[in-house]
Amino acid sequence: MKLVNRRKGCQSVSQNWHAETIRPAMAEDVGRIMMQHPLWTRYGVTQESAKQRVELLLNQGELGLGLRCDGKLAAFAIYGDKTFGDHGYLRLLGVGKMFVGHGLGGALLDLVEKNLGERQIDRLFCLCNLENSGALRFYQNHGYVVVGNLPSWSQPHLDEVILVKRGLA
Ligand SMILES: CC(C)(COP(=O)(O)OP(=O)(O)OC[C@H]1O[C@@H](n2cnc3c(N)ncnc32)[C@H](O)[C@@H]1OP(=O)(O)O)[C@@H](O)C(=O)NCCC(=O)NCCS
Repeated sequence: MKLVNRRKGCQSVSQNWHAETIRPAMAEDVGRIMMQHPLWTRYGVTQESAKQRVELLLNQGELGLGLRCDGKLAAFAIYGDKTFGDHGYLRLLGVGKMFVGHGLGGALLDLVEKNLGERQIDRLFCLCNLENSGALRFYQNHGYVVVGNLPSWSQPHLDEVILVKRGLA
């Protein structure tokens, strides 16, 4: 697949990626990507806590999907399928800093939606920090709609919105 560097408005960046299941043993790589973004450090996440959390989630049955580019884990999604009834919940989505803006996040989100849709799961929910305007735009461009607010959700100074996309199945 050709990756388009949207931020530079050109098609000069061309790399191959392949999708793979994220296993608990890859939790450290996921944590490494998370540490590249101020989003997660604002929530007090550390490399070690990220690793432990991802390992635990996967061991408890959450699903993990990643994209590998040039031998490196470049993007990851951790998601479940039992939220608000039996709907999907995208718990974590991240793209390695050097790969941001090249279409990987969108490609991975498409794969997660396809995977859920094939299992007759029709809706995918996620939370997004209200100040994370880039991610909010990203989700809205992919058909997600804000359906609720969670002020001071995980910490007093951090407000979340609930987004949902319908019609996956
Ligand atoms: C949000 C994120 C997953 C998007 O992945 P991506 O691979 O950069 O996204 P794509 O290249 O498929 O799409 C680019 C779109 O993402 C959005 N975007 C968000 N952050 C961006 C950034 N730092 N640089 C460029 N685009 C960004 C823009 O809306 C852009 O749309 P545009 O083409 O209209 O400008 C990624 O930027 C990321 O990991 N951010 C940090 C973690 C995060 O916020 N996760 C979501 C938590 S709710």
